[in-house]
Amino acid sequence: MSSKELFKLNPIKFCLAMGLQIIAAVGEVVVDYVLTLQFDAAKNRNLSLFLTWTLIQLSSYVMVFLFYNLAGIIWQKLIQNYLHLIRQELTDHYFADSQKHAVSAVQNRMTNDLKLLHNDYLDSFRYVVGMLAGIVGVAFSLVTFQWSLLVACLIFAAIQIYLPKLLDKPLQKATEKVSVANRKYLKTLGDWLIGLSEVRRYLASDKLFKTIAENSGRLEAANIEKEKVDQELDYLNQLAYSLGDVLIFLLTGFLVVNNWAAFGLIASIGNFNGALFGSLQGVANYGGRMRATKKLREEIFVAKKKIQSEQKSNLEQAVSFSIHNLAIDFRNGEAVTFPDFQVKAGEKILLTGDSGTGKSTLLKLILGELQASRGKIQYFNQKGEKIQPCLLYTSPSPRDPPPWG
Ligand SMILES: Nc1ncnc2c1ncn2[C@@H]1O[C@H](COP(=O)(O)OP(=O)(O)O)[C@@H](O)[C@H]1O
Ligand SMILES: [Mg+2]
Repeated sequence: MSSKELFKLNPIKFCLAMGLQIIAAVGEVVVDYVLTLQFDAAKNRNLSLFLTWTLIQLSSYVMVFLFYNLAGIIWQKLIQNYLHLIRQELTDHYFADSQKHAVSAVQNRMTNDLKLLHNDYLDSFRYVVGMLAGIVGVAFSLVTFQWSLLVACLIFAAIQIYLPKLLDKPLQKATEKVSVANRKYLKTLGDWLIGLSEVRRYLASDKLFKTIAENSGRLEAANIEKEKVDQELDYLNQLAYSLGDVLIFLLTGFLVVNNWAAFGLIASIGNFNGALFGSLQGVANYGGRMRATKKLREEIFVAKKKIQSEQKSNLEQAVSFSIHNLAIDFRNGEAVTFPDFQVKAGEKILLTGDSGTGKSTLLKLILGELQASRGKIQYFNQKGEKIQPCLLYTSPSPRDPPPWG
């Protein structure tokens, strides 16, 4: 998942949303700029100029919020389209990779992980673009008043951008922990609820409650941990912001008193400063959030990769098979041997035997889910030729080690 993929999906919508976001952000700067001019007009007792600037201020406000919200709608449409595509690609991959997947892991990927990326990456991207535009607008405005104000602001900008980097790693770790804990919780729920009637029959509710409570507790702890890191990040940012605010106001007062900057600036510098630091804080914050999703995005990129199944398309469907000297030795010493037999195309077979004689094992061997220790299974196509069939399980997944391994 990346902003580049999102752009490629629909360049027009992408640019439209970003364009509106940028114009709205610049519009906010215009509102602050006009405040300086309003104050100067008021100081000069020029009512008609004051009213003109006020009208411009009002129309800017109307445009700013309209454009922000329009950008939000277009962006959301684009994101939903993108997520839909990713879910399809994930499904295709799960279908084609011939591996076993725990239901809970797939559910977590398709819901929780994608939601995390939607909030922390895709939404953040839009905010960051707007905020960057705002920063450029404010910087430009400040330099038209007094270059030293811009220099002062840039110094604080550097401090602000550096600060959250200190918390980059812990935030990434905490985000990952929430995902892992959630996956485990879902798996536990799935595992236990599937056998709920057994749990009832053997009165094992204590164990059920205990296991579910334990996993829920871990999820709780992971969420609290993430919140803690989030809050620490906020605190650092706010501290840097307040410090910059006070010092810049001091500098402006000095410039205005010495007649080096327009009088009205004393009224609007607070707004400029607020906009600048707010945007910087936002960029640092949302940027940090975006960086924290890096690993998850790479994971999803791999998980949705198209599987090249050239080999498989050459594989034919088996219609009959035969078994020779087939045997399997399990690690625990259990061994099962099977008699030789053949199943012809279209034949119906009844497989019977006491519990534990190897019926399930045989089916697993035929499907390729288990590998034989000795002997072989041969598969034939419609013409009776020996073939290499497309088996359900080609190789055991590294994530789910087979029970005998
Ligand atoms: N993963 C395994 N590890 C060790 N032993 C196994 C495993 N799976 C099956 N077995 C053993 O193989 C024998 C056949 O089991 P199974 O195929 O499940 O029998 P059935 O389905 O006919 O009841 C049993 O003795 C069982 O204990
Ligand atoms: Mg069985």
